[in-house]
Amino acid sequence: MAYDLHGKVVLITGAAGGIGAATARALYEAGARLVLTDVTQESVDLIAASFDSKRVLALALDVTDMTATKEVIQRSISRFGRLDVAFANAGISWRGNPATVYTCDEAEFERIIEVDFLGVWRTIKAALPEVVRNQGQIVVTSSVYSFMNGMVNAPYAASKAAVEMLTRSLRAELGGTGATASVVYPGWVATPIAKVAFGGHDLATQMTEQGFPAFLRHPVQPEEIAQGVVLGLKCRKPRIMIPRRWVPLSWLRGLFAIVTDWHIGRHRKMQSLIRRLEERALRA
Ligand SMILES: NC(=O)c1ccc[n+]([C@@H]2O[C@H](COP(=O)([O-])OP(=O)(O)OC[C@H]3O[C@@H](n4cnc5c(N)ncnc54)[C@H](O)[C@@H]3O)[C@@H](O)[C@H]2O)c1
Repeated sequence: MAYDLHGKVVLITGAAGGIGAATARALYEAGARLVLTDVTQESVDLIAASFDSKRVLALALDVTDMTATKEVIQRSISRFGRLDVAFANAGISWRGNPATVYTCDEAEFERIIEVDFLGVWRTIKAALPEVVRNQGQIVVTSSVYSFMNGMVNAPYAASKAAVEMLTRSLRAELGGTGATASVVYPGWVATPIAKVAFGGHDLATQMTEQGFPAFLRHPVQPEEIAQGVVLGLKCRKPRIMIPRRWVPLSWLRGLFAIVTDWHIGRHRKMQSLIRRLEERALRA
């Protein structure tokens, strides 16, 4: 059933980032009213400044804080009278260098899970009563990392797999209520979070080059993801996968996992890059 975004109230977490800001612009074009949230007030004020202030509310929100997340939902309802869609999009990866499970900093590993998994859970949980009441939608940014090997990015990939299953479970549980939930699976996107794999870190860049054929490596612009999210919302799609070149691999994900895990486990060059990464971490 088509979903008209005109006048709908959409909350976005991580709205000041590449995908969040591009999606805010695309949703605004589609007529939605927006609640833009990110860690700092300045960052969301900057995005909000390009929109009509009657159609936008910009609020600081750290998604690891459940009380603050519930307050933001309440403030959205106070301002616009309703909330229809929650886009749980905020995410982080390693602050600096990528790391293996063996050498990574424990606190940093857990911080990534806090933001990328529990932050999504808290956004969903806080928004759900209002989304169900309005037969609206939950949209969650997972990643192709939910089904490809997450080496040297394990807490990120584990979180993306976790939020995928959380959202699939939720969609099934919402069956018959009129509300729905969708998973967004971006491939590589040209935003700050992906820089490490594209020149930002020498070994991670070499691993990307070794691990992915050129046609999968090419990053898309955040605007492509944004258009996909808008279309996905309009059609209440269960899965929004962009770029589309990942779709056949997602259909074959069981086989893809067996073959790629086997291949990576025997890839000498990859093993040597991983050992060099670990040596550097242990020396630091
Ligand atoms: N760029 C890619 O290649 C890619 C691929 C697949 C999935 N993703 C996912 O897309 C989403 C958006 O990422 P992006 O590519 O726009 O990167 P980005 O770094 O530009 O944006 C991420 C945003 O999340 C915000 N954020 C971080 N911690 C937060 C917290 N605790 N509370 C609230 N906001 C917080 C950041 O301030 C930032 O604005 C993330 O979930 C990311 O994992 C990105």
